[in-house]
Amino acid sequence: MDGLSRLKYRGYDSSGVALVGPGGMDVVKAAGRIEELGTALEATPPAPATTGIGHTRWATHGRPTTNNAHPHQAGDLAVVHNGIIENHHLLRAEVEQAGRDLVSDTDTEVVAHLLDLDLTSRLRAAGFSHSEAGWRGSGATTPAPAPEQAAQLLVEAMRAVTARLEGSLALLAITPLAPGVVVAARRSSPLVLGLGQGESFIGSDVAAFVSYTKQVAEIDDDQVVLLSAQGATVWDRQGQVVTPRTWEVSWDASASLKGGYDTFMDKEIHEQPTAVAETLRGRVNELGEITLDEMRIDASVLRSIDKIIVVACGTAAYAGHVAKYAIEHWCRVPVEIELAHEFRYRDPIVSQKTLTVAISQSGETMDSLKAVRHAREQGSRVLAIVNTYGSTIAREADAVLYTHAGPEVAVASTKAFLAQITACYLLGLYLAQQRGNKWPDEVADYLDKLAQMPALIARLLKEQEARVKALGAELADRSSFLFLGRHVGYPVALEGALKLKELAYVHAEGFAAGELKHGPIALVEEGLPVFIIVPTPRRPVLHDKVVSNIQEVRARGARTIIIAEEGDSAVDAFADDVIRVPPAPTLMLPLLTVVPLQVFAAALAAAKGLDVDQPRNLAKSVTVE
Ligand code: G6P
Repeated sequence: MDGLSRLKYRGYDSSGVALVGPGGMDVVKAAGRIEELGTALEATPPAPATTGIGHTRWATHGRPTTNNAHPHQAGDLAVVHNGIIENHHLLRAEVEQAGRDLVSDTDTEVVAHLLDLDLTSRLRAAGFSHSEAGWRGSGATTPAPAPEQAAQLLVEAMRAVTARLEGSLALLAITPLAPGVVVAARRSSPLVLGLGQGESFIGSDVAAFVSYTKQVAEIDDDQVVLLSAQGATVWDRQGQVVTPRTWEVSWDASASLKGGYDTFMDKEIHEQPTAVAETLRGRVNELGEITLDEMRIDASVLRSIDKIIVVACGTAAYAGHVAKYAIEHWCRVPVEIELAHEFRYRDPIVSQKTLTVAISQSGETMDSLKAVRHAREQGSRVLAIVNTYGSTIAREADAVLYTHAGPEVAVASTKAFLAQITACYLLGLYLAQQRGNKWPDEVADYLDKLAQMPALIARLLKEQEARVKALGAELADRSSFLFLGRHVGYPVALEGALKLKELAYVHAEGFAAGELKHGPIALVEEGLPVFIIVPTPRRPVLHDKVVSNIQEVRARGARTIIIAEEGDSAVDAFADDVIRVPPAPTLMLPLLTVVPLQVFAAALAAAKGLDVDQPRNLAKSVTVE
């Protein structure tokens, strides 16, 4: 339960466990949040057991009911699964023809039956047979196989069945025929091993078991694992035993607890100065050059690239949007931003001279992963900006810039976003340095300015948080909001609107301020709250245009909430509310201006009594396409 509750950000619409003990197997499941599973376990306590699997679900096939919750049972097996089996319709027909009755709508139950059918035929071939009552107990016609043999046959069945599955999977199976072991397989969905003293763990994120062991081993695609308290054996797709890469987790379990804040989001918003500082830490070598975490791309290749494509989803895509402004300005290379799922399926023009930059907090977002694979197949080098060490995107990329923001638990992203933007600046400066667009002293100057940002974010929070929270509570009854920004304020406006949709379930739209007059202004009516992100007055061309845009909405009755630099008095006459941010270089302003929008969305959602950390229908790591 402890492990599951640390993973609930991955999905939380139903959950369940299967436990194997001396008396056999118990399965307990519940629809709703993980607390419901706790109640179900109290109501029907399972027998003592030392082997088990569990799952929190984010529905893909079938509604979030108890019946559709994992584990799914077939014969002697129980199975949990993350991912999507794309050919499950065909396989469902096959298992139904074999006489199996399926009781759920899920693709996973089909896999459970396939696995049980395969295991059964292997047991038969080995001379074991059973009656309706199963392999064990009085109904069995032969003695049950030895546990070691059953475990080995389950490993073989797992390899055979997963080879027939199309799509993505992290699959675990247990059976009372082989008590004390869990058999697992993975393809494209995250799965990591935790190796403790006399106890072993397997999970889709180290957060599940980091309070028990920090020794982690990676499982690669199409590998099968046999896990017991003594450790793990891993086979590749040819059936050869392989030694997985192991590493030690550097952060502590307490880093994923709330630390005195009401919500994880509140905590993570306040961790933003640290997250930005951590992303910047240790980036400059003794020669004064910027370094990345893992670089497997030749400097000559970086010098030859003629286009950058950023692929990402959700909040991470808005970080990519900021990257466009910075990288184009600093490096004079065209940067396109593309939602990963659109990029993948539109036959994009990608060549060896294209650098693809994938941005992802989790490093597991399936849409982004597919885009990475597509880009690499087309000959592009991929540089990943990710937060989760050892994640799939990080492992498949040619270069990695880790954001080092620490674990982000709240489903909607806050500190990871600021860390991603910071990483994009670092990347821009790195490329400028490699390609000779900026002198070393110019790069050093920008790094100095970046190094000042954490203190400015902390000051902004200290000075403005209470007011912004009050504003969130005051506007909790409104059903529509607009967000306007120009230049780097534009992605900030998009992110402000997304936060409000995600957390408070209200209609919110972000627009490029200049686009307003081309249509969206028709939405403005008396009293409509409109947030406007105002650029620094030190860039009058940008600033004055946005001040005009404020007047345009105000003249039509909007309630204007202005985010402007300290001392920018030009906005005062047109503002119903002003939120002041400290002065910072134009390109770096998103690190400040987005913070009040995060605080506002969280406060408004809290005032509505909503669950800020786990908004409805969302999941933190979307490992399906
Ligand atoms: C999900 C989350 C979003 C997140 C997006 C990208 O949709 O709900 O908050 O921005 O995935 O996630 P990633 O892990 O790739 O940054």
